[in-house]
Amino acid sequence: MSARRSIYALEPKSTLTDQQLRDVVTEAVKFTPTSFNMQQTRAVLVIGEAKNRVWDAVKEAKMRYESEDHAKATSEKIDCVFKSGYGTVLFFSDLSIVSNWSDQMPAYADAFKVFDAQASGMLHYNVWTALELEGHGANLQHFGEGSQGVQDGIRSALGLPDSWHNTALLNFGLPAGPPRDKEFSPTDERVKFFDA
Ligand SMILES: Cc1cc2nc3c(=O)[nH]c(=O)nc-3n(C[C@H](O)[C@H](O)[C@H](O)COP(=O)(O)O)c2cc1C
Repeated sequence: MSARRSIYALEPKSTLTDQQLRDVVTEAVKFTPTSFNMQQTRAVLVIGEAKNRVWDAVKEAKMRYESEDHAKATSEKIDCVFKSGYGTVLFFSDLSIVSNWSDQMPAYADAFKVFDAQASGMLHYNVWTALELEGHGANLQHFGEGSQGVQDGIRSALGLPDSWHNTALLNFGLPAGPPRDKEFSPTDERVKFFDA
């Protein structure tokens, strides 16, 4: 767990073959739990031109919907940082599945949204950790939340169903530099033990 960090300086290389990368992502999707085993989580691995297409779509959406200064800064970051790795794993929740469960169990409707976010986070973390254990660096980005334009742009770039909601994008490649310094608040304030 301590080996997983946010690494922004990435080389466009991988320690694994493309098939092995697909296997890592597939295994994480298959075995990461979801509440009620509803299996709404989805992942898409993009490399090469597909990766550029996704990031260009994010950039275009940002340019269209954000103030000029903010969009320009994001655009530079996308070109210099997020496009620089070997690939990106995009994560989605199929909201048609979540809403079916909410319809069937209305008492849990609000809880399903929380469970969906929690299961998504577990999947993000599993793929992030698995890729870093294989010698990659990775960073997790959240451009889709709160931006319909980004959601539409990503779906249209990849021809995905309307019900797929992007929950995060994980960029990975060979680490080209160390992680940033990280401060840890005292763990005894965050972790308690009781034995009686
Ligand atoms: C739920 C969640 C959302 C995050 N969103 C972003 C993000 O949008 N962009 C980003 O650069 N890092 C994002 N991060 C990375 C955190 O900033 C990072 O994990 C934290 O600062 C600790 O650093 P470390 O990953 O090196 O341990 C996110 C992390 C989590 C857990």
